[in-house]
Amino acid sequence: MEIIELKNVDKSYKNNDKVLDNISFTILKNTITGYLGANGAGKSTTIKLLIGLIKADAGEVTIKRINLYEDNNSSLSIRKSTGCMLEYDTLYLDLTAMDNIKYWGQLHGLSEDEAEDKGKELLEKMKLKNILVSEYSNGMKKRLSFAKSIIHNPEVLILDEPTSGVDFESRILIRELIKELHEKGSTIFLSSHDLEEVRKLCTNIIIIDHGKIQIQGKLEDIMKSNEEYNNIEDVYTSFVGETIES
Ligand SMILES: Nc1ncnc2c1ncn2[C@@H]1O[C@H](COP(=O)(O)OP(=O)(O)OP(=O)(O)O)[C@@H](O)[C@H]1O
Ligand SMILES: [Mg+2]
Repeated sequence: MEIIELKNVDKSYKNNDKVLDNISFTILKNTITGYLGANGAGKSTTIKLLIGLIKADAGEVTIKRINLYEDNNSSLSIRKSTGCMLEYDTLYLDLTAMDNIKYWGQLHGLSEDEAEDKGKELLEKMKLKNILVSEYSNGMKKRLSFAKSIIHNPEVLILDEPTSGVDFESRILIRELIKELHEKGSTIFLSSHDLEEVRKLCTNIIIIDHGKIQIQGKLEDIMKSNEEYNNIEDVYTSFVGETIES
């Protein structure tokens, strides 16, 4: 079953150059997809479209066949059952870690007690102290943002570089929690620059270059599709050009 679908999506910012140029892809249920591409390729822009933060200029973005931009109960229920983590953290600095996580949990339909219990469990798992977020380091904020994104056991989880800037131990923990959700049936879409991590974690990959999708599919099928692919780096370098200059 298709969970996420993008059809012929275009997106430009101010100067009208297409940041996303007619992109289409389908994410099937219970897959973990790694979204790969150079700096400026369009990954975060795609993620913002997927969570309904910005709007496409053309084309269609749907989750479980629901258009997120329609103002109705279906789109609200999709937003509630989706977890997300953006490239920059969206935490309240003057609240404690627990208050941040509880607030997010309740916003996604958990009762106060449920949010508190799950919050405690996640803070413990992520080895985070319950102090004001303003006193956290960058890596700690990243770990809290991740914990916040999964507090409601989301059916669909969308993550922008979830492990960039976090230490080794936390990376492993984040990976384990992603795998756990996958085992429970969730569908996960994540961007990453860490090809080794993507190889270990993802069932599928999509490569975007200069706003155009280059290849998408099951990682193992892609690896078998060309005898010159010895590893995921070979696949990546055959589709990705140089970094985009701003
Ligand atoms: N708010 C914005 N206003 C104008 N241009 C933007 C904006 N956000 C992104 N862009 C431009 O859109 C292009 C794609 O940016 P995006 O953030 O989607 O790339 P990315 O693939 O996530 O890169 P990175 O790996 O560095 O995170 C870049 O050229 C960037 O300069
Ligand atoms: Mg980005």
